[in-house]
Parts: sequence; structure tokens; C-alpha cells
Amino acid sequence: MKVMIVGGGGREHALAWKFRRDDPNVEIIAAPGNPGIAALGKCFPIATDKLKDLADLAEEEQVDLTIVGPETPLEAGIVNLFQTRGLPVFGPTREAARIETSKRFAKELMVRAGIPTARASQHADAKEAKAALGDFGSPVVIKASGLAAGKGVVVAQSAVEAERAIDAMLSDRVFGAAGREILIEEFMEGEELSLFAISDGHQALPFLAAQDHKRLLDGDFGPNTGGMGAYAPTSIATPELVSTAMSKIIRPTLAALRDAGSTFKGLLYAGLMITPEGPKVVEFNCRFGDPETQALMPLMESSLLELVASVAGGGSLSQSRRPDWKPMTAVTTVVAAAGYPSNVRTGDVIHLPPPSEGVEIFHAGTARNGSNELVTAGGRVVSVTAVASSLFEASELSRSHAEDVAFKGKQLRHDIGWRELTRGARVT
Ligand code: AMP
Ligand code: GLY
Repeated sequence: MKVMIVGGGGREHALAWKFRRDDPNVEIIAAPGNPGIAALGKCFPIATDKLKDLADLAEEEQVDLTIVGPETPLEAGIVNLFQTRGLPVFGPTREAARIETSKRFAKELMVRAGIPTARASQHADAKEAKAALGDFGSPVVIKASGLAAGKGVVVAQSAVEAERAIDAMLSDRVFGAAGREILIEEFMEGEELSLFAISDGHQALPFLAAQDHKRLLDGDFGPNTGGMGAYAPTSIATPELVSTAMSKIIRPTLAALRDAGSTFKGLLYAGLMITPEGPKVVEFNCRFGDPETQALMPLMESSLLELVASVAGGGSLSQSRRPDWKPMTAVTTVVAAAGYPSNVRTGDVIHLPPPSEGVEIFHAGTARNGSNELVTAGGRVVSVTAVASSLFEASELSRSHAEDVAFKGKQLRHDIGWRELTRGARVT
């Protein structure tokens, strides 16, 4: 089988790594890929927004299956284009991807289907939005409706801060068209969980739930990022909680998407807040999460390739079992470039630690310079996943190897999994 992976982050490297484990004979190509993926297959320098070039490549290379990593080509309609050209592809259509790409669409759908989520109101006018703040109290959450590379959400601690965010989005258009409409949302208290479910549009199979670490600094301080680390499993994702999330959130969302004429085939990622009233949706994503995928893939025992190929081929998951997972813990620590998440510095030479049992280093923002040295080329540079029999061991192993990744100005968190470790300490 020949598989094409669209994207070039740590998530895509982890998917390539997993496909190779699932089938040692699989042929992998990637666009644009990265130096880590290049060790597993061939990379083509085609950007993820060049949809026609990507379809041409899939055709020329006669790939059996394409999987799309990031959300932007999904929003642009890569799946619609591939389907028109008869090319098997894994991911939702542009219309179904709106569950992530339009927070307004997602919120309206959730309200219609009675899916638990934060109360919200929508606004295109700054004056009207400010007048609505009184209905929410503080803190309050202000969100740009469109895609804003993970930066379009402000958790405002006061009305003044909320008004500033409203002005920035609606009047100053800091997020451009993505901030033409905003949502004001009730603040939800609790811990967050990332739950992935693979779906053929009707059936859905949950993955092991993971916990992301969005803030840049230890202890969950500093600015929001794309994600600085993740671990799985987590004790807050009890079988009962996952079963509630499947029956009250994932399945009704898939049904509501079908009712809207936008059947969702692909990977539905629910960002959940575990509140005292049960799980509520913070947001949906229409693709695998990064860095959760880097934590999950080394734990996944079942074949991901089989599931993905079945959905892309128009098959049904009704006969498929929920994926099996190793009874171990994975911790992923992201090593980011100087300046991340705002002004990223690139071009610094990277030295990686030697290979080590139980540790995988997934490349993201890396490149080769003219002298064939590995250099930084993006915000999140590599992610270091360690798998061990306890969270404590996995976090030590992940952190020490992440500390051994050397380049100028590197940033990393030293406390991935801290909530779970603290919980453990409280119990014993
Ligand atoms: P999002 O891009 O919608 O996932 O939001 C980014 C982050 O903002 C989330 O991971 C949460 O930490 C926080 N957030 C978003 N919406 C809410 C909410 N209604 N209540 C509390 N925190 C939120
Ligand atoms: N880990 C957050 C995301 O993939 O959006």
C-alpha cells in the first residue's frame, strides 16, 4: 500500500511512524513532510495550500490513500477536490470541517442537538457585543468564529479585558476575516481532555483520551500555544466518562452533521471540559490533534492504517472493534524554538540525543541547511515521546530526553502530566 501524508508537523511524523509499524511494507510519501518523515519515505516540497498540486501528486504517485493532517487544507476543500478526482482520502469535506472552521456553525449545531457546551451569544457588531457582556459575568471567553491558528480565544478576567478583546477582533480585525464574527462564551471551570473518535459518518470508535498542555510555561502559565505537551492515559477519562462523551456528545454531533447534509468522515476531536455537571464541549477539531497524536500513536496496538483505509475507501466501521492500547503511559514533551508562540527564530543548528529504548523523537519545525545540518524551521521543533509503565517514569524519561535536545534558545515545559502526578500524590 502507498500512503500520502499531507502536512509536516510532529503529528504527521507520528502518523507516518505508526503506519510503518502497522505495515512494515507500506510506502510513505509526504507533502511537504519534514526531515523526520524523510527517514520513513519520500517528501515532496509542496505546501499544504496547493490543493491541485497535491491531487496531481497523489495521481502521479498512484497513492492508495491520502491522509490530511492540518485543518487549513480541509477548510479549503482538499477532500472535496480529491473525491471529485476519484482519489481515496481520509478527512472531512469542507462542509463537514465547519465543525472546527466555524465556531458559529459548531455552536449552532450543538445548541440544536442539545449537546452540552458553554452558553454563548454571537455578534458581528462591537457595541452589541459589549452590551451582551452583562449576561455572562467574569471571567468570560471571547472567541473569533473562524480559524486563527489557535490564537483566536481570549479568556478575559474582567469586563475591561473583554471589551478590549471585542474591539481587537471586531473593530481592529486582528484576526482578519476569521474575526468578522465573534462568540461570547460562559467560562467553564474544570480540567480539559482531548477525545478523538474515528468515524465513517455513522459509527464512531473512541481513542484513548489524552490531556494537552496549551500554555507555554510550567504550571500552566504564560500564553496559549498550539500545545507544549500531552500525556495518556489520564485517570479523569474513566470508562463512564468516555461512554457519556460518546453517547451525549460524539454520536449526537455526527447525527446532527448528517442532518445538516454534511456527513463527517474522518477524525473528530472533541476538546472537552470536565465540569461538575459532566463533560462539555470547549471546541471541536476536524483532524488529529498535535501533540496528542505523538503521545497516542506509540500506545496504539491496533492498526490505525486499517481503520483509516476503511473510512477513506467508503467502508463501514460497524464491524470494527475499538482500538486496543498498550497498558502503559506515554508522555510527550514539545521542544519549541526561541520566540514561540509569537516571533519564532529559525535557522539554529539542532543536536538530537542518540536513540533510546522507549523514546521517540518526532520532527516538526526542522529542516536541513546547505551543509545538511538539522536546523530549526518552525515554532514547535520536535516532540519527545516516552513510553513507560508509570506516568512518573514516562515523564522523567520524556523530560530528560527533551532537555538533551540542543539548540539555541529552546523552550520546553518540564512538568507534562503534572495534574495527573499531583492527583496520584493526593491519593497515596
Ligand atoms: P479553543 O481554541 O476553543 O480550544 O480555546 C482555547 C483554550 O481556551 C481552551 O483550550 C481552553 O483552555 C480555553 N477556553 C475556551 N473556551 C472556554 C470556556 N468556555 N471556558 C473556559 N475555558 C475556555
Ligand atoms: N492540541 C491542540 C490541537 O491540536 O488543536
